Amino acid sequence: MPKRLLSLVLNGQPHAGAAPDNMLLLDYLREVVGLTGTKTGCDGGECGACTVLVDDKPRLSCLTLANTCDGKRIDTVEALARGGRMAAIQRGFHEKLGAQCGYCTPGLIMASEGLLRHNAAPTVDEIREALGSNICRCTGYVKIIEAVQYAAELLREEAA
Ligand code: FES
Ligand code: FES
Repeated sequence: MPKRLLSLVLNGQPHAGAAPDNMLLLDYLREVVGLTGTKTGCDGGECGACTVLVDDKPRLSCLTLANTCDGKRIDTVEALARGGRMAAIQRGFHEKLGAQCGYCTPGLIMASEGLLRHNAAPTVDEIREALGSNICRCTGYVKIIEAVQYAAELLREEAA
């Protein structure tokens, strides 16, 4: 299949590439660009492991064609740490023990990051709703919710 040129802002940097029309964003990120932080789980829109941000909104990259993202901003989990320092949401998952095997964690982190970019003080119900498409087989969800609440506190402290 012929490829089309693709122009993105990927993790804050201009990115030019090419993808066939049937290539998923998940495969483009992992196999073409080499950003393997985004995980393949169910490969069918059921688990949330593949969540990235498209123009600051969470999107399942296993259900998104790469070429539909032309001209958009894409953030993957690799975008978050800066200068060796974890982002607030990464600290939340780390310090509040929001991960065990960690396979679901990049997707949960990006879904949470998408929430926190629009809502500085989410309620428990808002967090549950924002993470409703993300499945974790290990932790239960209490620690994950605590992780997001803690990250929101850190962000508010940074902004104060
Ligand atoms: S891999 Fe995309 S939702 Fe499961
Ligand atoms: S930490 Fe293992 S699936 Fe979530």
